[in-house]
Order: sequence, then C-alpha cells, then structure tokens
Amino acid sequence: MIAKQDYFPLLRRRIKEIINFNSDYYEEKHLRRRVAIRMRALDMSSYREYLKLLERSPEERERLMRVLTVNVTEFFRNPETFVVIHREVLPELIRMKEENGSRVLRIWSAGCASGEEPYSLAMLVKENLGSRRDFRVRIMATDIDRDSLEKAKRGEYLEKELLGVAREYIRKYFERRGEVYRIKRELREMVTFERRDLISDRKYGAVDLILCRNVIIYFSRELKEKLFMDFYESLNPRGFLVLGKTENLSGEARKKFKIYNNVERIYRKEVGPPSPHTFPRRY
Ligand SMILES: C[S@@+](CC[C@H](N)C(=O)[O-])C[C@H]1O[C@@H](n2cnc3c(N)ncnc32)[C@H](O)[C@@H]1O
Repeated sequence: MIAKQDYFPLLRRRIKEIINFNSDYYEEKHLRRRVAIRMRALDMSSYREYLKLLERSPEERERLMRVLTVNVTEFFRNPETFVVIHREVLPELIRMKEENGSRVLRIWSAGCASGEEPYSLAMLVKENLGSRRDFRVRIMATDIDRDSLEKAKRGEYLEKELLGVAREYIRKYFERRGEVYRIKRELREMVTFERRDLISDRKYGAVDLILCRNVIIYFSRELKEKLFMDFYESLNPRGFLVLGKTENLSGEARKKFKIYNNVERIYRKEVGPPSPHTFPRRY
C-alpha cells in the first residue's frame, strides 16, 4: 500500500510564500490547529484540497491570515508608525503637559497581546524623557487572553523575538540571562497589565494616547463604531488614537476625531466644533 502523502509541509511553505506570513516561527501543532479552524469552516478534510483553494482565492488568503495572526505581535510592529509616535506624538504630548502644568502621562495599549507593543512604547517614552524624573508615566496594557498576559508580565523574550529592536535599545532596556532577554525593571514598572475585554469591560479615562492596533478585525461594524466613541470619551482633549495600518475609523467618530497622520492611522481628539472637512470624502 502506498502511504498517503502529507500535504501539510507543502501547505506550510506556500503559506509563507503566498500570504507572506513567516510560518517558520510557529510550532507545527499550532499551525495545524489554525489551519484546521479554516478547514472546518469550509467543511474540508484534506490539506491538498485546502491548498488548492488558497492558491486561487485571495479572500481565503485574507481569512487565513486573520486566523493565523490572532495573537501575533512584535516589538515596533510597523516601525514607521513608531517613528511618528517617537518623533511627533510623544514630544507633542510632553509639550502639552508642560504647557498645562501636568506631569502625568497616561497611555493605553488596548489588545497588547504578549507585551511587545506596550514595552515598545515604554522605550520610546524613556527616550523622549531622557533623564527627566518629573513625569509620572503609566502605560495600561490590556488584553482578553490570559496566556498572552502572563507572558507579557514576565517580560521575557528570545533573541528571535527581538528582531525589530535596535541594538542600542536591547543594551539599554533588556538584561540577558542565558537565552532569555528580560525587560529591565525600570521599564516593567511603567507598564501595568490587566485582563479586560474591550467589548464589555470598563474603559479607562483621562488617557493621552491609545493604541488599538490589529485587534478589532473580527468586530462587527456597530461594535467598532461604539468602541471608537468609547476611545473618544477615554481620551484627554487633543489626545491621540492609533489604529492598525489597515484599519479605518468609522461612524460618528469620523466627525469627532481629526486625522493626524492618514498613512499611519493616527487620529487626534478634536477640541471645539469639528471641521466639516475633517475627513476626505472617500477616506
Ligand atoms: C494581533 S494581536 C495585536 C497585538 C498588538 N496590538 C499589535 O498590533 O501587535 C490582537 C490581540 O487582541 C486581543 N483581543 C481580541 N479580542 C479582544 C477583546 N475583545 N478584548 C481585548 N483584547 C482582545 C487578542 O487576544 C490579541 O492578543
């Protein structure tokens, strides 16, 4: 009898090639489980059949990508966005605080996964504040997934997880113990992790900057629109909201927020009557 060919290795290679998802970093078991989610939804039982569909259907490639990336994150993900946060958003917030006499900076990483996003922010805050000790900084990092939060709290990462981190930052902000790089205490102390469901749990108030990136892809339109308005309420006047690179503000919030940087999906809480031309028509 001829053994049945296992198409999974081929599928795995093609996933890397055609949907640009680096499957090398993932355990085979994990990948098989994720692919199985899509196959079940399609009532398919063979990898070969699924691969055929993947090759011909851009929609399926998109769907699989979403399933695969549900908890995926990295330090300084979409580095261009972090450049704007580093060079423009944080300096502007610090300047505003100086102007109004406050020395408290509150940042919320909503859907923080295993901590890479809030720790990236913590590094940039440190870089912006230099040796200043007069600011109290609190980064609230929340997620619905307990396992991700456990990892986030430990603040321990392997070298392969630090690809997006500049050498200089690794030296400054991590301590190495054998294979493991641990976020230094001064940074860990800036971040508090908490399990919160964005859909049903209480939101924070008086926040200066919110990052909610690559989290709301599965949310219904109504839910997204409500969440954007919740974020609006959470923000201090002239505070910033950053969404994922492929996400758009929608609903009532489009009238309330002003676009700060269209490409990086950075919005600002409008003060005073919103301008009727806040959004280009076809945005
Ligand atoms: C793809 S990760 C994004 C991580 C990070 N924001 C980034 O862009 O790299 C999405 C995260 O959103 C979290 N998430 C999904 N639904 C959520 C909800 N209703 N409330 C809170 N977190 C949620 C998931 O657990 C996951 O950790």
